[in-house]
Amino acid sequence: MNENVTVLVVDDEDYIRDSVKIILETEGFHVICTDNGKEALDILSAHYVDIVLSDIQMPEMDGITLLKEVKNRFKDVEILLVTGYPSLDSAVESVKIGAFDYITKPFKVDDFVNKIQKALDSKKLKRQVLELKQIVSIYDSSNFFSKTLNHDEILSQLQSVIKNELKISSFYIKLFTRQIEKAHNFDEDFKNFLNDKFSYKRSLITFSENESKIGHYKKNDQDINYIILPMFGTKGLWGIFAAYNKGAHTFRDIDVNVLNIYVSQCSMALQNSLSYEDLSKGYAETITSLSKAVDAKDHYTRGHSENVKNYSLMIVDEMKFNEEFRNLMFYAGLLHDIGKIGVPIDIIIKPGKLTDYEYGEMKKHSIFGKEILEPIEFLGDVPQYVLYHHEKINGTGYPYGLVKDEIPLGARILQVSDSFDAMTTDRSYRPRMKITEAVQELDDCTGTQFDPEIVKAFKSALKGDGII
Ligand SMILES: [Fe+2]
Repeated sequence: MNENVTVLVVDDEDYIRDSVKIILETEGFHVICTDNGKEALDILSAHYVDIVLSDIQMPEMDGITLLKEVKNRFKDVEILLVTGYPSLDSAVESVKIGAFDYITKPFKVDDFVNKIQKALDSKKLKRQVLELKQIVSIYDSSNFFSKTLNHDEILSQLQSVIKNELKISSFYIKLFTRQIEKAHNFDEDFKNFLNDKFSYKRSLITFSENESKIGHYKKNDQDINYIILPMFGTKGLWGIFAAYNKGAHTFRDIDVNVLNIYVSQCSMALQNSLSYEDLSKGYAETITSLSKAVDAKDHYTRGHSENVKNYSLMIVDEMKFNEEFRNLMFYAGLLHDIGKIGVPIDIIIKPGKLTDYEYGEMKKHSIFGKEILEPIEFLGDVPQYVLYHHEKINGTGYPYGLVKDEIPLGARILQVSDSFDAMTTDRSYRPRMKITEAVQELDDCTGTQFDPEIVKAFKSALKGDGII
């Protein structure tokens, strides 16, 4: 039952090393021996060891120093110190700084084996606690996955859990159908090997039974144990996940199961996020075309919606609003005049001043815009921004004469960017203003027509871009 347990025996006296080796091998343990602490650390870096059994008094590096190093660098390893009576004090001290126990020389075989068995039980218990923590973190992670549709956030979360909770030092993820791959601390040669041996076609055959591939190789004298898992989407295999640890055990069943569940969750979350991104991109393209069609009704306003979108995003970025609001303002900028579809073309392209009736018809475009956009769920508050984009903060705007904060923030931003673009481009009834004159106009109307904070941010963004 102890054949998978490796004990590293560190003692500078040959006969003790040899006798301990014989005792432990009789009990079925796998034993590695060394006569000094420094070599012990090298062995620990290259091979997985369950338990270190070290003498305290040794030349070069004593047992206490080795203990401190082991506790610092190899947290999963239990260490027992062996001591003669004269150094019992330091043995007691060693337990305080992290040794599992100490064994006094000369030792009885039964006591000796018993202490090692107890150290193994303790290690097993710690491992179970760790596994429980891993399962909890995977549960938390799946909650996180269900709340985000951003593939970068999903990959960052994956990296954090793999590294911090599952204690895996290196991983690589690659999607066959997308230009998406992420590597963390991953060996380049191994990545090339994967790209060669686990291409899409080869993986289809290799992973036909949804099995993970576990393997082992040596590099620079270090043991490297790896695992390769298929990633499945709704249309079948669409990526691979690979991970490895240096100097560690082969991945055990529990590790494989936990990883399998986690990678599947991540795969589905990635697929949802990428589908959503595709859909959003499709919408954005459709909406951009639609906004161009509206602007094209009047050649003077060609490019107007694109400009309003760009100015609005400059304000959003300057005021450091979040990504969600930024997305809404992208659409709001492009779509603010969409309601002009419902306004007669001869009013829209009329070169001179509009009559009161015509102006009344023109003013309806903000209500038409809101009605057109309202059924589109993913646009969130955009219909509201469109409805109120001609409101002014002193209450003299339309359609409702709202004041200050009654006007939604998105509409107040549109009001500034829309007016600035209108002022700085030619119209049928007047030529464009110079940029400096338009900025002066913004200043003059700040506090009456425009929100002062937004004008301030817009001017700062224009300065930052070298426009003023
Ligand atoms: Fe408008």
